[in-house]
Amino acid sequence: MKRDNFATRLGLLAAAAGSAVGLGNIWKFPYITGKNGGAAFILVYLVCIVLIGVPVMLSEFALGRKTQANAVGAYKKLEPKKSWYLTGILSVLTAFIILSYYAIIAGWVFSYISKAITGKLTSVAPSALGDYFNGIISQTAQPLFWNFVVLAITAFVVIAGVKDGVEKYSKMLMPILFVLLIILMVRSVTLHGASKGLEFLFKPDFSQLTPASILEAVGHAFYSLSLGMGIIMTYGSYIKKEENLVSLSLQVTVLDTLVALMAGIVIFPAVFAYGLEPNSGPALIFVTLPAVFKSMPFGSFFATLFFALIAIAAITSTISLLEVVVACFTEQFSIERKKATILISIALFIVGIPSTLSFGVWSDVSIFGKSIFDAFDFLTSNIFLPFAGILVCIFVGWIWGSKNAAKEISSYGAFSFKLEKVYSFVVKVLAPVVIGMIFLYFTGIMDKLKSVGTMLPNIVL
Ligand code: PFF
Repeated sequence: MKRDNFATRLGLLAAAAGSAVGLGNIWKFPYITGKNGGAAFILVYLVCIVLIGVPVMLSEFALGRKTQANAVGAYKKLEPKKSWYLTGILSVLTAFIILSYYAIIAGWVFSYISKAITGKLTSVAPSALGDYFNGIISQTAQPLFWNFVVLAITAFVVIAGVKDGVEKYSKMLMPILFVLLIILMVRSVTLHGASKGLEFLFKPDFSQLTPASILEAVGHAFYSLSLGMGIIMTYGSYIKKEENLVSLSLQVTVLDTLVALMAGIVIFPAVFAYGLEPNSGPALIFVTLPAVFKSMPFGSFFATLFFALIAIAAITSTISLLEVVVACFTEQFSIERKKATILISIALFIVGIPSTLSFGVWSDVSIFGKSIFDAFDFLTSNIFLPFAGILVCIFVGWIWGSKNAAKEISSYGAFSFKLEKVYSFVVKVLAPVVIGMIFLYFTGIMDKLKSVGTMLPNIVL
């Protein structure tokens, strides 16, 4: 089977950055920054991105390009007799589960666009916005309808292929995203009282920073850069040998971080200007911001732009999540692209039903004390992602070998790769250790170890 490739450098960058820039940047980053005290958290996040994010991204690009295969096939090609391909299966499964609930949040965004355009959203009293949001997400038919819309758009692009679908639409949507962000940023920072929001974002207060925030920063770096689930690996397999992977990884990382910061500059000055709380968690964009738009002149217009911006960011990410699963099925089981995409999308819709209902009629159902949606999110973001991340690092660092990876990264000497030694240290040692700590922390094992640690002296005595 002939493999599709990205046709242009710009298209490749738009697709990879489009995958990275998503709900993680515009919805999650602002609220975890709000929760962890603002600027100090951002500084830690930036260190994590540079120190761990870029080297792991380079490793995934290199693995994909070297093997010219999907996330499962890549391991099979390099280690045909070993079980490393299970790491690929874990990544593909993670992408599938994440997409099943990511599309639900994207669906809420689409429903908010329709409500912003008609002016309904800005007609709700600020104090009633929380109930309004809950009223929307706890229904059955409406969220499922919007979930279907998101999956249908995503499938339409993926069926068209890498060059004529993923690349073409990313190249079109990413510039629009930047234009919308800039318009909204200018609006937000020119509001009366905006400076407090900028201070919150850029003046560090280290007293708010806990070890937990540091682990949250590393975890989010992975989430935001689309690492650990085979996305970057799969995109890497569509890249030509003449491409410089170091500059590509740096550009994707810079764009991703820039959008997260710009989203913060859109959100926090407005939140402070209207005297609202910056730490309202996941409800920040669905409840707090509509209150901001309501008080603004031309509020419905800016609300529509804002939710359109998030919808674009979300769609370029759902495309990449679906591409990972489709690439795996078309290549490993020789299923035709269109057929694979439709079947997987139907499966995603079905798997997404319990998550959708967990905000409404199934809100009482709990798995280990979490709602179905939260359980899926926890399992994938906090357990599967870091676990797959460690395995990718060990594979590249020790099995394939960081020297071989470095050769691929430099396109076999065509480009210089000055920081090879640092890179080697990070993939072999630093990244697996730090990601391992996140894993122990989020699974609660670290707490158990700590309590065993404090009990030990008593036992010895
Ligand atoms: N990187 C994208 C985001 O930040 O929204 C998409 C994404 C990738 C989401 C990986 C979740 C994830 F685990």
